[in-house]
Amino acid sequence: MQQIKTMLNDNSAQINTPCYLYSVSRLQQNFTAMKAALGTQVIVSVKANSNTDLLLRSAHFLNDGSEVASIAEFQKVVGGQATRYVNNPSADKKFLRSAVSGKARIIVDNLAQLDIISEIAAKKPLAGLVLRLNPVVLKQFNCAHPKIRPDQFGMDWDTVCIAIERCKANNLPLLGFHLFKGSYSFEKSAVATVTAAKDIIAEFERRLEKPISFVNLGGGFGENWQQSKFDFAAYRAELSQLPEHITLAHESGRGLMANIGFFATRVRYTKQIEDQHYVICDGGIAQNFLLAKTENTLRKLNTPALWQKEPTQTKAACQFVGSSCSKDDVIGKQSDEHILPQPGDVMIFDNCGAYNASYTVSPFLQLPAATTYIIE
Ligand SMILES: Cc1ncc(COP(=O)(O)O)c(C=O)c1O
Repeated sequence: MQQIKTMLNDNSAQINTPCYLYSVSRLQQNFTAMKAALGTQVIVSVKANSNTDLLLRSAHFLNDGSEVASIAEFQKVVGGQATRYVNNPSADKKFLRSAVSGKARIIVDNLAQLDIISEIAAKKPLAGLVLRLNPVVLKQFNCAHPKIRPDQFGMDWDTVCIAIERCKANNLPLLGFHLFKGSYSFEKSAVATVTAAKDIIAEFERRLEKPISFVNLGGGFGENWQQSKFDFAAYRAELSQLPEHITLAHESGRGLMANIGFFATRVRYTKQIEDQHYVICDGGIAQNFLLAKTENTLRKLNTPALWQKEPTQTKAACQFVGSSCSKDDVIGKQSDEHILPQPGDVMIFDNCGAYNASYTVSPFLQLPAATTYIIE
């Protein structure tokens, strides 16, 4: 934040707004901290932040691999050295073919995908397959496993058994399995998942009639996982009980990306409607959908930091509104202990590195897209 304010002080014209600013060094710190906390590989979930420059500039340390869900995401990581994982239940033949040609490992969601992959494998070698297990399998192997919100991803155990048989029959390179229990799910069920994984691995290998080499235990780390009281040392001790011949991985989107990103928008006008002050900005919901919190029943809006073009002292509560004509384009608010921004000032929102850009759909009203800056 301080660095952004310094850049604005040096020459405010050098920052075009609305924009995202991403810190590569923060991403590296988050990645290193997560690897140390888990003691396993950490795979980056590209859906959280698919900015090409950021991915390119981080490729040298994000070296455990990346997970992509579309051909466009795949193209962003295709040149790198790290292993690529393609994971989407709706991945069609075209995407699967590209994945095979691009030497990605494929996370197989269902038997129909496996059939398509078998067809492709007759002509092209596969880099490796990983079966995606639906979380219901965890309860089956560990009845004490906490309840996981049901989802449509992956296979139940009966289907997994059929998939293993098909992989054997077609001599496909089955590496292991993948679990994902949902965002924010990690702490509640991490240890119970490892307990289940122990037995799943044994049964998987018995059916496959050979050892597997890879297990992705999923993720679900919150933005603030580094401040949590979760006992990572005890978790690592649990993990150490899994067979040594298996490479373990976790994956993360927001846990790596959230705090690396800032969203900056310039104040164009201010106005008052009766007692309510409005600060009208050059960016809003059309560039940062999540800030408007329209998906939450209770819209708990964030308060941005202020960079002032000229110092002023008047304090007032206000709402920050964006540049679209939507009533919902309210991206922040402040209480009356804050200075009331003036035209030309820049509002800076932190924690905008994960999904804020990638979850923003195509620009409403043909408004300009946000610029992106990589800092450091
Ligand atoms: C399979 C899979 N992996 C990883 C993620 C990333 O989740 P998060 O950003 O909460 O870490 C998602 C999010 O939807 C996902 O579907």
